[in-house]
Amino acid sequence: MLGVVYIQFMEMIKEKFSEDVLDDLLDEPSLSTGGAYTSVGYYDHTDIIKLVVALSKKTDIPVDDLVEAFGKHLFAALIDKYPMLAEDKTDALEMLESVDNSIHVEVHKLYPQAELPEFKCIRLSDTKLQMVYRSKRPFSILALGLIKGCAEHFGEQLTISHRNADSDDMFETHFDIEKVA
Ligand code: HEM
Repeated sequence: MLGVVYIQFMEMIKEKFSEDVLDDLLDEPSLSTGGAYTSVGYYDHTDIIKLVVALSKKTDIPVDDLVEAFGKHLFAALIDKYPMLAEDKTDALEMLESVDNSIHVEVHKLYPQAELPEFKCIRLSDTKLQMVYRSKRPFSILALGLIKGCAEHFGEQLTISHRNADSDDMFETHFDIEKVA
């Protein structure tokens, strides 16, 4: 996983908790880097899972709630860094529909090492979109947070339901998204 994602995760911990909480987490002995991450590095994605599990134990907040909150934070941070990715989109569903064949394509140009999920989209109506997340990595709840962050960015209310369809060699989640306001 890209260093920029780690850096944003650490930023969120400092903002929502404290620098001391972050320092304690980075002392976790099983981390592959000894707790040092830079924005230009590339690190095993299991480190972020270890960090989020340790944060959950420390704060008594469920892992999924922390990962979802991180997804929201990450969307805002990425759009702050790359505002052009959202500029030509009129609403959240249009943005979400373009993740697979436009946004993540640009991300891959910027960061050739990026390991990105697949999102197949089916537009059911003006207000309804189905997205199917498929990845070798278990980040569907991160996707949920990113989708919610996208809704917030456009000042929209979305109802989102999701169901797990993991198989032996692939993580898969189906999202049903409806714009309500
Ligand atoms: C709009 C909704 C978006 C969704 C639902 C989404 C979803 C995801 C998910 C779930 C991952 C984790 C990797 C995996 O699951 O295998 C990911 C990675 C990533 N996405 Fe997106 N994304 C969105 C928008 C964006 C935007 C706007 C950017 C802007 C730069 C972006 C950049 C990235 C980057 C840099 C990674 C990390 C790749 C890596 O660490 O190797 N995404 N995305």
